Amino acid sequence: MNITMNQISVEKTKHTKINDVDFNNLSFGSIYMDHMLVCDYKNGAWETPKVVPYQPISLDPSAKIFHYGQSIFEGMKAYKDENDTMWLFRPLDNHKRLNISAQRLAIPEIPESYFMEGLKALLKTDSDWIPQVAESSLYIRPFIFASGRGFHASPADEYKFIICGAPSGAYFSGDVKVLIEEKYSRSANGGVGFAKAGGNYAGQFYPTKLANDKGYQQVIWTDDNTHEYIEEAGAMNVFIRINDTLITCPTSDRILDGITRKSILEIAKDEGIQTEVRKIAVKELVAAANDGSLKEMFGAGTAAVISPISGFGYRNKDYTIPKLDNTYASLLKNRITNIQYNKAEDKFGWRFKV
Ligand code: PLP
Ligand code: COI
Repeated sequence: MNITMNQISVEKTKHTKINDVDFNNLSFGSIYMDHMLVCDYKNGAWETPKVVPYQPISLDPSAKIFHYGQSIFEGMKAYKDENDTMWLFRPLDNHKRLNISAQRLAIPEIPESYFMEGLKALLKTDSDWIPQVAESSLYIRPFIFASGRGFHASPADEYKFIICGAPSGAYFSGDVKVLIEEKYSRSANGGVGFAKAGGNYAGQFYPTKLANDKGYQQVIWTDDNTHEYIEEAGAMNVFIRINDTLITCPTSDRILDGITRKSILEIAKDEGIQTEVRKIAVKELVAAANDGSLKEMFGAGTAAVISPISGFGYRNKDYTIPKLDNTYASLLKNRITNIQYNKAEDKFGWRFKV
């Protein structure tokens, strides 16, 4: 099941929207580029993908996505360097993770060439949509959902794989304060927390809204069993610096195995920063905040890149993390974005030329 880019047909839009876009003032994920890739799964096989104008999708009300939530997605970015060359960051890892999610949600896996050749065909069609403004990039959203019909609670027989993209600026507009959650859980052992399933996010919205109302931007999820250990934030993995050691919790079937997270761990080691991948008790975090050994906390993810966390709330008390001059967050963000935007050597082989 291999396809090449020249098998992918391209239907160009007659009405480009690009002239309406202010590339110097981009928000996150709210303007969509002119085209999208669409690929249907029917009669037990994926059909050849097509690039078509960005447009609404028509679905039967009984489509299983609406009733049983069979829906998974990925988040990745395309970058453009000074020579107009387009780059992706570890795209094969996104493809692998999409298929890990697919397996868990009983969705048919998408072959690598459909994903990669489809992505390339789309980006070549809409290359002008990749911003060349600092801190901006094209946020790419590949997703698969059940378009097949039926109220029977079982996997659908038809699916759609779509890729669309949104030229985007920063995910957070200001300081990020987080609330450590002890009542609600994002995921549980044996559940779907490790998958990028749409429902994982829907389940977070209510507790996150409660946190937003109290002035926090994200929830830090703790383990569902004891609520004593820090797991991850709503849309990013979490790192904590105690003295000079950078710590993040291990991945598990409750946590998304972030591509940014694993890249940061490698870059940190390369910088000679001591790293630890181990469970972090909320108690330990609070003690470190109290005795001054908590130097930094940050979130890591494709959308968020590396977002410093300025403080956290726990049991009705706020803890502020004093600002440092030379942070691991800024060092690591520079290293990773220099690789992504082709501004520095990529000794890890992560950059992918489109
Ligand atoms: N954790 C969650 C729940 C996320 O939604 C994301 C975003 O993709 C991440 C972590 C970070 O993963 P990645 O670095 O692969 O984007
Ligand atoms: C990403 O970082 O790509 C994500 O998927 C986070 C998203 C929920 C905005």
